[in-house]
Amino acid sequence: MFETLVTHWAAQKERPILSLFASEDRASDFSVRADQLFFDYSKTNLDKPARQALLDLASAQGLTQKRAAMFSGALINATEGRSVLHSALRTFGSDPVIVTSSDVMPNVRESRARMTHFANAVRGGEYRGQGSAITDVVNIGIGGSDLGPAMACLALAPHHDGPRCHFVSNVDAAHIADTLQGLDPETTLVIVASKTFTTIETMTNARTALDWMSRKVAKPAEQFAALSSAADKTTEFGIAEERVFGFADWVGGRYSMWGPIGLSLMIAIGPENFTAFLQGAEAMDQHFQTAPMVENMPVMLALVGLWHHQVCGYSSRAVLPYDQRLARLPAYLQQLEMESNGKSVAMDGTDLGYPAGPIVWGEPGTNGQHAFYQLIHQGTQIVPCEFMLAAKGHEPDMDQHHQLLSANCLAQSQALMCGRSLDEARAMMREKGFEGTELERQAKHRVFAGNRPSTTLLYPKLTPKVLGQIIALYEHRVFVEGAILGINSFDQWGVELGKELATSLGPIVAGTQSAAGLDGSTRQLIDYLHLSKT
Ligand code: F6P
Repeated sequence: MFETLVTHWAAQKERPILSLFASEDRASDFSVRADQLFFDYSKTNLDKPARQALLDLASAQGLTQKRAAMFSGALINATEGRSVLHSALRTFGSDPVIVTSSDVMPNVRESRARMTHFANAVRGGEYRGQGSAITDVVNIGIGGSDLGPAMACLALAPHHDGPRCHFVSNVDAAHIADTLQGLDPETTLVIVASKTFTTIETMTNARTALDWMSRKVAKPAEQFAALSSAADKTTEFGIAEERVFGFADWVGGRYSMWGPIGLSLMIAIGPENFTAFLQGAEAMDQHFQTAPMVENMPVMLALVGLWHHQVCGYSSRAVLPYDQRLARLPAYLQQLEMESNGKSVAMDGTDLGYPAGPIVWGEPGTNGQHAFYQLIHQGTQIVPCEFMLAAKGHEPDMDQHHQLLSANCLAQSQALMCGRSLDEARAMMREKGFEGTELERQAKHRVFAGNRPSTTLLYPKLTPKVLGQIIALYEHRVFVEGAILGINSFDQWGVELGKELATSLGPIVAGTQSAAGLDGSTRQLIDYLHLSKT
């Protein structure tokens, strides 16, 4: 599928990215605007013919039709027989959204209204559990039932005016123990967030929290709420219907923060800000559906991704928000992108024959600069970098910080593209007094090959609306990449085997079942655990 592009790239590989700026409109031509966001992909080696070839590929792969199918509720998650309609959760229009011949919007509106009512009651102190107003909310969930709201709560900290929110995900007792320490069961609301209500980590943590609550509170389940699609299981757990917020199977776990899974966020920032967050995403949905392909931000973000991974062969991409409050965004995007597109078979089950999704990683700037940027600048592997930066911070009296942050962000993409030649390094060392072979040796260590690609996403300020736009942008990028690659971005069978094996290893680790029959390595590791415990 990518052969022509790969041939084109092979011929252009050595071309300096900087040379593309000989064309005066390079910067503006290789940038896209979507409402409040600005995406610059001009510091990549993508040229006009390659961009056109990628657009042609998107069209040949039926992107327009696939996009229409998703928004219209078709069963595009074909291995699970489900529609993919998280966009309906952030729709405010009056048009119906039909799934298997019925309009899902009345339920969406009702669910939003119930969430709003409950969030207001918790925030306003009318919901009192066993008698006291709630000061702390503990969201227990994992993966998509944790990463989204946890990431967004931190991102929107300046808007946080509700009870304190805590997030527990890991089955490691350290996580729940450290979180509950210092909390008062009487003033704590526990939200168990699990689409399936069977996830072992979440259910183990939920039972531990129930235990903790029951030591001080007469009816502990009354201070529990559930966010789940499995009403029978939430009832079995003992959570009253009025505090169960359900959602349909057409909301995938990693796409679920727009509905009930976002309840902790709504409690933290209030329904009004939560609505602005949804509206930001809705604006991106509309842009994605209507903007011409070359002006379409999710499409261009995806095509740049495909160019780097499938065509140039770069195996990872770094997400580098110069925004401390987006510290959890890389982790959130790891699930979104890698659980969605980390596949090796096409929709029809045949082997792909080309790489699917890349490895996604990252950290906020400037911290990363003092950690892994050495490899990004001088290592042997090329890592396309995705920088993100707000024009304005939330701390108006600390503008100097934001100027430094911005200068650093821009300097990094400039350094990656321009580099420093051997001659420049030699001149620098000569000025410092070096000469002869020592000058040569020292100069070599100070060379930056440059020609390393990066993109920059700018936004005015990290408000709820802007965050909604950014997250929806990335969701649609995943969709576009998956649609062009011909994979199902909405299942996650790759997480199942480990879960099954963990279940069967449980009794062996506990020592109630023999390790005979296991491979030598696993047996040896279990022996060590058993011996070191005693
Ligand atoms: O194990 C992967 C996964 O199924 C994710 O897709 C999901 O977000 C997470 O587990 C949590 O699932 P649940 O919400 O059902 O507990």
